[in-house]
This record gives sequence, structure tokens and C-alpha cells, in this order.
Amino acid sequence: MDARFTDRVVFVTGGGSGIGRATAQRFAAEGAKVFVVDVNREGIGETLALLRQAGGTAAGDACDVRSAEAVRAAVAETVATFGGLDVLVNAAGIGGFARFEEITAADYARTMGVNVGGAFHTMQAAMTHLLARPGGNIVNIASTAAMRGTAYAAVYSASKAAIVNLTRSVALEFASRGLRANCIAPGGVRTPILRNFMPRGDFEQLLIDYTRPPVPGAFAEPGDIGAAIAFLASDDARVINGAVLLADMGTLA
Ligand SMILES: NC(=O)c1ccc[n+]([C@@H]2O[C@H](COP(=O)([O-])OP(=O)(O)OC[C@H]3O[C@@H](n4cnc5c(N)ncnc54)[C@H](O)[C@@H]3O)[C@@H](O)[C@H]2O)c1
Repeated sequence: MDARFTDRVVFVTGGGSGIGRATAQRFAAEGAKVFVVDVNREGIGETLALLRQAGGTAAGDACDVRSAEAVRAAVAETVATFGGLDVLVNAAGIGGFARFEEITAADYARTMGVNVGGAFHTMQAAMTHLLARPGGNIVNIASTAAMRGTAYAAVYSASKAAIVNLTRSVALEFASRGLRANCIAPGGVRTPILRNFMPRGDFEQLLIDYTRPPVPGAFAEPGDIGAAIAFLASDDARVINGAVLLADMGTLA
């Protein structure tokens, strides 16, 4: 495997599971020092064990990305541990299907708080550090649900659309200072979150995003998304900025 990130420091949210974990593994395999955070402390422990077993350099901590203060502390811990920060990946996310009338104000606040607030807090906390070294880079995880409306996932879909323009705006604002910021928009990926996206008998609409890639039953593995994220963060993608890379096996084509 290429080692495009030797001695670079990568901060991954949602690193205790799924895409975040696989992304951390990919960066570590390419020589990065990886700091993983997640609200699930047990998941972080498992990820750190996997990274270290594979010979990677890794540290991490529990952190709820809804808290600006907790995020600032985790970013400070990363810089204290590894001496700086080069790449930020926001993979922490929550969501699931529900009929619109069932979504509570608390569900709304939690979904927006994690999916949008989390990316906002980490980008703000990380920015000075990312700008301090050449090649500062951000990859945020949107979804095919960001690119079109999604029946039975209205708030999730809105939160993912918000991430897209949050990322584009940051890309524009910091381009002249050498920073790049992009989104990846996966379709169905085999991770625990999929349990929350099962069609229900009382849904009237067809749910095409997750269930109907052009090759029936095709799902990406978390490592496929980790590989695409590493590409976006690498110099191989140096002319890609403010983009949304669809990684959906053609679902929205
Ligand atoms: N799996 C898919 O099919 C799919 C498709 C499109 C987009 N996505 C997005 O990919 C991202 C990663 O999801 P995944 O598929 O790996 O699911 P996952 O459930 O395996 O991982 C999400 C992680 O985020 C963590 N998390 C939740 N709330 C948090 C908080 N407040 N603070 C810190 N961490 C928190 C969870 O503990 C979990 O470890 C999410 O943003 C998700 O919306 C997933």
C-alpha cells in the first residue's frame, strides 16, 4: 500500500465504529498518526487495539461532538500528543428512518447537533492547527441523502445537505490559505447505522437511496469509503476542493 500520510496527523470523529474506524485504519496503514474520538468509549478501545495490533501509531479519547468544549479538548489533546494536525475527518453521525410526524423536537436537535454541529465544532477547533502546516485537509461525510430529499429521513437528509454547504463554504473561505475541504457522499455501506434504515410496512414511498443501487443488493464495505476519503485527503486530489464525491455504486446516476 502507498504511504501518502507518513508522519501526518489525522483526527477522525466517529472512530469507534463503521466508516470512522475503517478510515482510521486506512490512514494508519498509510503511515499517519491517528487520533480517534467517539461518544462510545468501548468502540474507541476496540479501534485503538486494532490500529496498534497492525503496527499503527494511534491515540484516542471519548468525546461527544455536540459539545464545542469537549471537541476543543480532544483537538488540544491530539496536538499535545502528536505535535500538530494535518487532516480532519468527520465520520460521527446518527440517523434512521421514521415517519415525519413521529420525529420529535429532541430527535431534530440531536440529529442536527451531531451531524452538523459536530462538523462545525471540529472544523472550528481544528482550523488554526490545520492552517499552521502545509496541506491542511478536511473530509466530511455527507450521504446520497444530501443530494435529494429522502422520504422517512427528513431531518437526516436536511442535516446531510447542510454538511455539504458547510464544507463548500469552508473550502471557499480557506482556499487561498492552502486548505482543502471536501465531502464524500456514500450510498449503502455495511455498518451498524444501517439497522436504523430498514423500510417499514407503513411506508408508502419507495426508498431508493439505500435499497436500489443498479446492482441489486450491492453494499459498500467501510474500507471502500475509507479508501475514497484517503484519496480526497491526499495530494492525489490536490485540485479537488469543495467537491462532493459520490461513493454510491451508481445509485444516483
Ligand atoms: N452506512 C451507510 O450506509 C452510510 C451511508 C451514507 C452516509 N453515512 C454516514 O457515514 C457516517 C459514519 O456512519 P457509519 O455508517 O460508520 O455508522 P456507525 O453507526 O457505525 O458509526 C457512527 C459513529 O458515530 C458515533 N457517534 C454518534 N454520535 C456521536 C457523538 N455525539 N459524538 C461522537 N461520536 C458519535 C457512534 O458512536 C458511531 O461509532 C455517518 O455520518 C453516516 O450518516 C453512512
